[in-house]
Amino acid sequence: MARVLVTRPLPFPALDRLAAAGHDVHVRGGALPPSPAELRALAAGADGILSLLTDRVDRELLVAAPRLRVVANFAVGCDNIDLAACAERGVAVGVTPDVLTEATADLAFALLLAAARRLAEGERAVREGDWRTWEPAGWLGADVHGRTLVIAGAGRIGAAVARRAAGFDMRVITVGRTGDLHAALAEADFISLHTPLTPATRHLVDAAALAACRPGAILVNTARGGVVDQVALADALRSGHLAAAALDVTDPEPLPPDDPLLSAPNLLVVPHIGSATRGARERMATLAVGNLLAGLAGSPLPHPA
Ligand code: DGY
Repeated sequence: MARVLVTRPLPFPALDRLAAAGHDVHVRGGALPPSPAELRALAAGADGILSLLTDRVDRELLVAAPRLRVVANFAVGCDNIDLAACAERGVAVGVTPDVLTEATADLAFALLLAAARRLAEGERAVREGDWRTWEPAGWLGADVHGRTLVIAGAGRIGAAVARRAAGFDMRVITVGRTGDLHAALAEADFISLHTPLTPATRHLVDAAALAACRPGAILVNTARGGVVDQVALADALRSGHLAAAALDVTDPEPLPPDDPLLSAPNLLVVPHIGSATRGARERMATLAVGNLLAGLAGSPLPHPA
């Protein structure tokens, strides 16, 4: 019997398989992330951890958890985990690829359309009584069909967004790790980010990248907040160089209410809900539990980081 820490309640059937396999499962209650000190204390006797993307699995935690053999992240991203430190200590790390690809691509496209057609602004105006009548030049947004979408990141989610864009008759330029992002941005009417957050992609979209964008471009980010330099983004929105931005992710999450980005014009922000469909989250739980059970059994993880 192994000791398993599940860092937050996960109301999905897959979790039952942990107890059914005879493991001693401790679920830490509450919605908010534990502090690093609390997480270290909780992990002290654990053989396996089912972690969320808001849990930092770093060297200090690994030192505090000498029995740890496996960390199963309930996410496809794993920038919350020090992979090198885990490898050094023989701790296997698992993630949940594929099962959230379509849901995340749907959200990226929803954000793209919402920003292009100013849905949030329009909705606010209707509710606040600011919409007086149908006007020929009221609420003009950007065409989507026939326009150019630059997808930064040549992985699964980027490809799924490209499939959606094809249905909207968009021209798609996908830029992988070694491609020339700035050259592509000069042609972009829309940019959608689908890179993991690594030292190489932190602030990939910085002031220079934003300056390289075609004036009036619209940025969509469903990847990680850290991929964008948010000070530069706020400047680009304030100057009008970017027409709009639609973000599922920010740095930090959530943004403090007085963060200057939140007062930038034409910004739509939602609370990191790319994978938030019941189906995707259930499948993520299934994969995370599968990784955890394999790691505890000393087997290779089905979905390693
Ligand atoms: C992930 O999986 O990395 C998403 O950001 C949350 O589902």
